[in-house]
Amino acid sequence: MRVLVIHGPNLNMLGERETGIYGTVTLDEINRRIEERAEELGAEVEFFQTNHEGDALDKLATARREFSGVLINPAAWTHTSVALRDAIAATGLPAVEVHLSNVYKREPFRHVSYTAPVCLGQVAGFGPDSYLLGLDGLIRHLRRQRA
Ligand code: DQA
Repeated sequence: MRVLVIHGPNLNMLGERETGIYGTVTLDEINRRIEERAEELGAEVEFFQTNHEGDALDKLATARREFSGVLINPAAWTHTSVALRDAIAATGLPAVEVHLSNVYKREPFRHVSYTAPVCLGQVAGFGPDSYLLGLDGLIRHLRRQRA
């Protein structure tokens, strides 16, 4: 079971970016934790971070052939991108949206997610653990689907 993990714009800056909101854990460390959890769950993960929306769309366009599901932090594109929403939907794969911060406690423009309606579910507000909780949920769903 292979899961594609997509990190959207500015998440490469984690650890030094608005640490009061996002904490001091780096993206490499988050990926390490995801990898560890995936191993425990018997799944494989591939990581893809980009600041370029077209690259995220291209990656999703080929995901169906290679992956069983998608774990995605669309970052700022969550609140802006119909194109990303359509690309997630087009994969036909179950996707889980995650956010480090609780976007619903923040500015009103962050309360709207273009992408969540085409996802299985959303996890927000648990810092790096949002990814681990999202991965758990996704894998449980995939296992149920297979059974
Ligand atoms: C974020 C929340 C978004 O609103 C923001 O634009 C981000 C990060 C999060 O993980 O909390 O870049 O997706």
